[in-house]
Amino acid sequence: MTNKFIVGNWKMNQDLASIQQFLLDLAPVKNQIKCSAWIAPQGIHLAPLLKFAQEAGIDLKVGGQDCSAAESGAFTGETSAVALKNIGASFTLVGHSERRQYWHEQNSLFNEKIKTALSAGLTVIYCVGETLQEREAGKTWEVVQTQLQEGLKDIPLKADQLILAYEPVWAIGTGVTATPEQAGEVHAQIASWLESQNADKLPILYGGSVKPSNIKELLAQPHLDGGLVGGASLKGEDYGKLCIEASS
Ligand code: PGA
Repeated sequence: MTNKFIVGNWKMNQDLASIQQFLLDLAPVKNQIKCSAWIAPQGIHLAPLLKFAQEAGIDLKVGGQDCSAAESGAFTGETSAVALKNIGASFTLVGHSERRQYWHEQNSLFNEKIKTALSAGLTVIYCVGETLQEREAGKTWEVVQTQLQEGLKDIPLKADQLILAYEPVWAIGTGVTATPEQAGEVHAQIASWLESQNADKLPILYGGSVKPSNIKELLAQPHLDGGLVGGASLKGEDYGKLCIEASS
């Protein structure tokens, strides 16, 4: 096993037929996958994805795209971390830019969600990243550092429980990938921030228009431990190519 990750974020995509097709297309390369291959489908697809993958002998971990900050109770429409764990999820994303943008969720809420998810026994992938406007105003590190400080406040930064994902908002779903140097610069800043907190060396993933054609040069950057991949994770063939690149 390498220490690299390819985490697919399927967002609100796929159905049972396309999930089965994904696994059929991934199966021929399953023995070449030596990285951590993780997928976050829609919550309702967690159990079938896990079951179909097991039947196909494909070693995938599945996780949530989000979870509630509350443990349980009268919160219509929410999914609890305990329920995710219970159904076989190993991890959950927290703080994805679409949660920030469309649901106006903030760092303080992500802090609560991370605590709840960790106490349910899930690994958390905490997503951070600046908008184009913030980058152009020279505020990239200021924004990312605030997201880290507030989102991770009072949380032990342990490598077996937490993963960070740097996802510049302007690169998500746009086809515009950060150059390896742009990504590498922020990854190095995050790594030195972690060091200043006496934290473990948490894996730091990059997300934003990752595809089979650019994953290799991204992975060549120091402190870049894998990809959080949206669009290019939907097809088994592409996902397989990404995993093979992360397996050497
Ligand atoms: P993308 O999405 O790969 O389609 O840009 C990445 C993400 O939102 O995690």
